[in-house]
Amino acid sequence: MDKKVTVVGAGNVGATAAQRLAEKELCDVVLIDIIEGVPQGKALDLTEAAPIEKHDAHLTGTNGYDASEGSDIVIITAGIPRKPGMSRDDLISTNAGIMKNVVEEVVKRSPETILIIVSNPLDAMCQVAYDISGFPKNRVIGMAGVLDAARFRAFIAMELNVSAENTHAFVLGGHGDTMVPLPRYSTVAGIPITELMPQDRIDALVDRTANGGAEIVGLLKTGSAYYAPASAAVEMAESILKDKKKILPCAAYLEGEYGCNDLFIGVPVKLGSSGVEEIIEIDLTDEENAALKKSADAVQELKEIVKNL
Ligand code: NAI
Ligand code: 2OP
Repeated sequence: MDKKVTVVGAGNVGATAAQRLAEKELCDVVLIDIIEGVPQGKALDLTEAAPIEKHDAHLTGTNGYDASEGSDIVIITAGIPRKPGMSRDDLISTNAGIMKNVVEEVVKRSPETILIIVSNPLDAMCQVAYDISGFPKNRVIGMAGVLDAARFRAFIAMELNVSAENTHAFVLGGHGDTMVPLPRYSTVAGIPITELMPQDRIDALVDRTANGGAEIVGLLKTGSAYYAPASAAVEMAESILKDKKKILPCAAYLEGEYGCNDLFIGVPVKLGSSGVEEIIEIDLTDEENAALKKSADAVQELKEIVKNL
């Protein structure tokens, strides 16, 4: 393939993302993890599936960073996931240390790459990656909104018994309990869901979306979601690799947009070959603005914690 994507962290999200990248034939994949044998074993296993899945993507598993040299994109999933009873924020000091180390290694070999951050707490980890990499803001992007919006879309499709493909949704704000699903901008075949279901059902779906991560943790018990998170990260990577210029909700560094300054938070962005090519500012009601402000305040608190680590 003429594109290369490195995935750091060969755990549940990382290995699933590697699988989807390869099976969609988007790029060659380098899978990195600290556990000896795991990235090598998973890369080999995926390579052995290639004749059946019909792709020619080249997969490499490694414990070092040299093979990542010249990556077009690096997806960072390294870190610990949450267990039942833990919030995403409980992961902060461990994952900040891991993020710092990973980003230092990555930028030495791929100074022009685009970073897609997945590790939690997401918005704070984007800040760490941005500070350590010294990259321009268009090349550090967080994955959360695409996942949260996909959950909202899945719940809308189940509620109305319609094709999930027909749905569209926006979820803004930080990737935490204060995230802001936007029913007014969420549609089925272009029809706002506010026209299609009563307010109490919308409220229930919004609540389920905001707690979507915890719902999966409660069921799995040993870790957190990974199929949908991997799909979300790969949708972002595909838009960048193919310069598709999709408008997707992603964590981006804001400098005044939506009233936020020097903060990563989820907003609609245009993703193309340069990474974040535009931040789209949509009109929000007073209530939506207040919810976004509350979410930004929660992210700001995490940013302060990260700064003082
Ligand atoms: P996992 O535990 O299955 O995999 C994490 C992998 O990172 C492990 O294989 C571990 O060995 C590796 N790792 C740890 N330190 C490392 C280092 N210094 N260098 C390289 N690799 C290292 O966890 P999972 O489920 O894949 O989740 C990964 C992260 O992504 C977690 O922080 C989780 O909370 C987050 N996440 C974020 C989502 C989002 O929407 N932003 C969605 C799902 C997960
Ligand atoms: C999720 O939302 C754990 O952030 C992860 O599933």
